[in-house]
Parts: sequence; structure tokens; C-alpha cells
Amino acid sequence: MPKEKRMKMNPEEPIQRHFNSAVCRPFDTPSTWYEAVYREAGNESNKVPWARQTNQPLLLPWLELRQELAAENRRTLVVGCGLGDDAETLAHRLPHVTAFDISPRAIAWCRQRFPASRVAYQVADLLDLPEDFRQAFDLVYEALTIQSLPPNLHAGAIAAIADCVAPGGILLLMCYGRDPEEPTDGPPWHLARSELDLFLQHGLQEVCFQEHMIAGVRRFLVEYRKA
Ligand SMILES: C[S@@+](CC[C@H](N)C(=O)[O-])C[C@H]1O[C@@H](n2cnc3c(N)ncnc32)[C@H](O)[C@@H]1O
Repeated sequence: MPKEKRMKMNPEEPIQRHFNSAVCRPFDTPSTWYEAVYREAGNESNKVPWARQTNQPLLLPWLELRQELAAENRRTLVVGCGLGDDAETLAHRLPHVTAFDISPRAIAWCRQRFPASRVAYQVADLLDLPEDFRQAFDLVYEALTIQSLPPNLHAGAIAAIADCVAPGGILLLMCYGRDPEEPTDGPPWHLARSELDLFLQHGLQEVCFQEHMIAGVRRFLVEYRKA
């Protein structure tokens, strides 16, 4: 894919600036800069580079084909929920939706945007999740969180997401895609399909892999199931 077709952050944008300062500070985790981006945005979502005020374009078509998921007692987990649009879309169709993000400001913003929400929003770190998330969710939904972390954290993030899926459960993943030999210099760090194959080492089977081009950005949608 030509380099100019890939979504790149403008170096002047806050996301890049915060990332540069966060990775240079030895006592911070690489994720702390997300909190800084949300805080600096105030209440203006147009200052959060990834916020769209609507759900991921591929989510609704996928949900339309999965009416059976609405059954009682099923539990859904939304990883790195950001400002909550996808979590809300899921909660309109499915019972018992939990959504987490590492940023306390993002979670407070979700509660402010959706005061009557049925979503259980909570602050949590994907790389240090509560024990009761383990094997607990019939549907786990991950969009754009793994790629928002530096590549040395991807294996841990993949293992943590896979661990949340209950036996017989589904993982729905969306990310920006690249070829394995194509370099990636994030944020975001686009994911190669070979990297996603790590999920297969954590008890998941790939049941569907789709590739889409949306607004000039290559995206993967992958559905996995746990035996
Ligand atoms: C690119 S945004 C995507 C947000 C949302 N999923 C979407 O599709 O719009 C990445 C999100 O992951 C969150 N995040 C980053 N590192 C995280 C971690 N270790 N644990 C939980 N959330 C994290 C960020 O705060 C941010 O909200």
C-alpha cells in the first residue's frame, strides 16, 4: 500500500506530542499519554484524534447478522472504549455490556455523554485486568486498542483480550491492517494478519477474516471463537 494511503498522525497533533513525551519519561507507562489527550481536549471531542461521535462503520453490519447474541444473560466486554459510541451501540442490542478504558477522563466523559446508559463503564488497564474478567464474556469487542500500544506490548494485549473470552464465546476485532513486510511507525501501529495469529495460541479459532478499505485506510475485521 502506498505510504500516503495510510492514516498517519500529524506530528503537530496532540496525540503525537503526548506520545513523544510519555515514552521519554521512564516512570510512565506508554498508555499514560491517552489520559493527557482526553484531558487536554476538555469537552471537545473533535480534539480527540480518533473520536468520531459514531460507531465503527463495520460494527452495525456485523451485528445485523448476529441476532442470536441478544439472548438473555450473555455478557459483552468492550476493550478500550474511548468515548463510548460502540459500547452504546452494543448496549442497544445486547444485555449486560461492560466497557473499560485506561483513561479515567474518557470513562467520566462516557458517563457524561450517556447519563441514562445501560453500559457498566469502568477504568481498567488492559495489561492488568481485574481477575473477574477472566473467561467471563460471551462477546469481547476490540477496536483499535492493540494498535494504539507500542509493538512490544502487542503480545501481552492479545493474551489479555483472549483471556476475557468465555468458553464458547466470540471475539470481534477491528484494526488498521498492513502487510507483514510493510513497516509501521505509530501511533497507530497497523497490525499484520500474521501478528493477529497470536490469538490462535490462546485458544481462539478464526472463523471469519475480512479486509475493507474505508476512507483510504485498510482495515481488518476478524471474528474468533473459543472452543
Ligand atoms: C485509538 S483509541 C480507540 C477508541 C475506541 N475503541 C474507538 O474505536 O474509537 C484507543 C483507546 O484505547 C485506550 N487504551 C490505551 N491503552 C489502554 C490500556 N492499556 N488499557 C485500556 N485502554 C487503553 C485509550 O485510552 C483509547 O481510548
